[in-house]
Amino acid sequence: MAFEPRIVGFLCNWCSYAGADLAGVSRFQYPWNIRIVRVMCSGRVDPMLVVEAFIQGADGVLVGGCHPGDCHYMTGNLQASYKIGVAEKLVELAGIDPRRVRLEWVSASEGQRFADLVRDFTEVLRKLGPSNARERMDGLVAARTALGDFRLRALASNELKIVEEGNAYGERLSKEKLMEVVHTAAREEFERAMILLLARRGNISVKDLSKRMNVPADRVLEHIVVLRQKSLISMDHPEGFTPTYRTIEIGGEQ
Ligand code: FES
Repeated sequence: MAFEPRIVGFLCNWCSYAGADLAGVSRFQYPWNIRIVRVMCSGRVDPMLVVEAFIQGADGVLVGGCHPGDCHYMTGNLQASYKIGVAEKLVELAGIDPRRVRLEWVSASEGQRFADLVRDFTEVLRKLGPSNARERMDGLVAARTALGDFRLRALASNELKIVEEGNAYGERLSKEKLMEVVHTAAREEFERAMILLLARRGNISVKDLSKRMNVPADRVLEHIVVLRQKSLISMDHPEGFTPTYRTIEIGGEQ
């Protein structure tokens, strides 16, 4: 049987969902592959939900919002563009093709555009084939953990504010500079989450972590230092002269 992708669509109530509704009422044909979740604003779609959709078996995720300037909550769609950008980065770090994530603007009067969009995305996903989420489950779980990190959440939620008003120190960063900061934070948190995931399964050395994660050993060591400072990982029985590490379970023994 030919592969049929499963798409999760998060659509904002005021524009994209109404556009999808109009497509239905107008009898514009579009593939049945999309499952729609209505949200009040595209800015409310947590990046974690995008990653979770892949963990739960989606082949693609579409986030739909109002056109810039039309958001009923003023800047929700602009915030969405930053948040979904972070989700895309984490999905990519997990080993999933970022073309499986799309952010689009569809107004309430664009039923035809909605139908065309679903048709096009379905076609792209058919060509990409089934999601490789199963083989990349460790990466996706690490991505989900990383997205729970306070620093990353604060950055993803406040990017627009930082660009327009400046950070806590009154510094204004260009969008490009801020994206660089966010992407670095995303990579760091992702790699730390991977270390914790692997070290939870048993003692592991920096060398083995480096090999498993395909990350230079000196960078793994830097992460270990940070994780030890946060009491999230401890040094355990050495293998010969090589120290090994294991995750400290909260409320549990080392
Ligand atoms: S209400 Fe539609 S994107 Fe905010």
